[in-house]
Amino acid sequence: MTRPTRSDRTRQLAGLAPVIPVLVIPDAGLAADLGRTLIGAGLPVLEVTLRTDGAFDAIRAMADLPGGHVGAGTVLTADDARRARDNGATFAVSPGLTDAIVAACDEIDLPLLPGVATASEAMAAREYGFDMLKLFPAEAVGGRALLKALSGPLPQLSFCPTGGITPETAPDYLTLPNVACVGGSWIAPEADQRARDWTAIGARARAAAGLTRG
Ligand code: 3PG
Repeated sequence: MTRPTRSDRTRQLAGLAPVIPVLVIPDAGLAADLGRTLIGAGLPVLEVTLRTDGAFDAIRAMADLPGGHVGAGTVLTADDARRARDNGATFAVSPGLTDAIVAACDEIDLPLLPGVATASEAMAAREYGFDMLKLFPAEAVGGRALLKALSGPLPQLSFCPTGGITPETAPDYLTLPNVACVGGSWIAPEADQRARDWTAIGARARAAAGLTRG
């Protein structure tokens, strides 16, 4: 049996808070205040998606915030992983898993949380040595029912489900033994970021940080 080794650090990160905010940051100038708000509210692990022009600058602006762990999400290529690391990201999240991304993350020693959506993909990830996986897009591919079903044949795998999770459904996900944490964009919607409504974002983050696991 392959001994998983590639997930040691992402498993540690997943243990730091029940929710990883998935951030689509419209303006890198907002990133430092956003990061301080989230970390201060008890969510230290931040996923900055590479979906906006300023994403790498946002990662750079958040990378040195005390108490934070900033990673890049929506990593689709080896180059994304390298640029993320060069801008200070300490982990990478991908919606899927490709040979090129695994090789790049190994080469630059960047912990990777790869995405899977099926048993076969989870088994392939395990063969690579990953045992902490993102389930994506969680709600669309079966959500809690799928996670419960996967825990039978694949009890050694833990998941961070992401995609379609809400403040209402997050607590139920977190009761599942194979769910280490959940990810979601509901904490910091773009409109609240643009309005610099750190009070609203902070309140959602505090509620998320207070959710209990297992
Ligand atoms: C992701 O990038 O992981 C998801 O798109 C986040 O999903 P959500 O916006 O439904 O929370």
